[in-house]
Amino acid sequence: MKQTFFLQIPLGLEQLAVQEIQLKWSSLFPTRVCPEVFLETGGFTFECLPEEGFILNHWLKIPNRILLRVASFKCRDFPKLFKKLSSIDWKPYYGEQEFKIHVSSSESRLFDERKIKSALIDGLKRFVQKSPVKKKSMEKVSEFKDWNLYLRFEEDWCQVSIDTSGERLGLRGYRKFIGKAPLRENLASALFYCLINEAQKNRDYHIIDPLCGSGTFISEAATFYRPNKHRQFAYQYFPSHNNELKVHDTLFDSKFQYTGLDKDAKQLEQFEKNLEALYEEIELSSEEKIEILEDDLYSEEIKIKNDNETLLITNLPYNVRIKNATGNKKLISQMAKKYSPVLMGVIIPQTKTPPLVEGYEVIKNLDFINGGIKVSFVIYKSQKIIEG
Ligand SMILES: C[S@@+](CC[C@H](N)C(=O)[O-])C[C@H]1O[C@@H](n2cnc3c(N)ncnc32)[C@H](O)[C@@H]1O
Repeated sequence: MKQTFFLQIPLGLEQLAVQEIQLKWSSLFPTRVCPEVFLETGGFTFECLPEEGFILNHWLKIPNRILLRVASFKCRDFPKLFKKLSSIDWKPYYGEQEFKIHVSSSESRLFDERKIKSALIDGLKRFVQKSPVKKKSMEKVSEFKDWNLYLRFEEDWCQVSIDTSGERLGLRGYRKFIGKAPLRENLASALFYCLINEAQKNRDYHIIDPLCGSGTFISEAATFYRPNKHRQFAYQYFPSHNNELKVHDTLFDSKFQYTGLDKDAKQLEQFEKNLEALYEEIELSSEEKIEILEDDLYSEEIKIKNDNETLLITNLPYNVRIKNATGNKKLISQMAKKYSPVLMGVIIPQTKTPPLVEGYEVIKNLDFINGGIKVSFVIYKSQKIIEG
């Protein structure tokens, strides 16, 4: 039976996340039409079979989490809330584990977080009195620690959802070391996808990040079309879940090359260690390669092959936590001059008028929030005519 899922998405990136699910769904389930999605601020809902929703945890790189809606009802008083919560069929998900309970309320009569939480705890206790939990279920859930339940009230409608992900999905399991001002993995994935959407299809691009730090953009680009097979997800510990879902190795064959450069050798050491951890989990094809190079953007020497097939993606120092004495215009112009990329996607502090760069036009300016700072992802396109 189909159920409703809610995908939590970083603000501003909802549309990209919808495109991601549409792209990956058609490869994962070629004979099944992608469900219609209903966009909301900070996420979207859609209906599908539970196992289809669960497996998306392995494949989708933009969401923060995937929630499964277990109930939805109108409710304006606590006795009714308790009654409704205790009559949900919790058996498929509950083995008396302790949940972290997340409450939100807007334009609703019920908003007291403490009282809402205790109604839920009492409701679960009553449920167990009526239908005791099996020992097997208790053992299974005890093997997992990251349990989350969400109660959301909106105009007196209460939605109860259980998290199927566990730790946020951005924690891929292979970024052990983080550099200065690192970018969250799911933001990096979203921006890489945004850039690739502007590129021509079926070309073997060279992806470079000239200010790569601990290498988040490069790692996310290299794994965007690959599943996360190794980390644990909450759904795998639901008492009702007993068949291991088959996860393919990759959805698309890519022949991309990836190069991360930075002038700070310490940052690159961290990237190197992250890469070692990543290689334990994924196998690149023989045609793909990730390279790490120590290089100052302003040095004369060009250490990589410069061609028409370069896509550049980077996070500039915003002059907030990391100093940017030279200014964005100079940095972006230097990247354009040194690497002549076909497309260049850069994160800069939010602006409606991105710096002008000779030989390039701005084709996208996407606003989002990175670590509490309002930023824009600006895509520049080379005005050189590219053959083929
Ligand atoms: C905002 S951080 C990038 C963080 C990276 N996206 C991550 O997630 O780890 C900026 C990086 O630019 C590097 N950097 C600054 N000026 C540079 C230059 N002239 N040449 C090369 N790297 C530079 C710094 O060493 C720093 O690692």
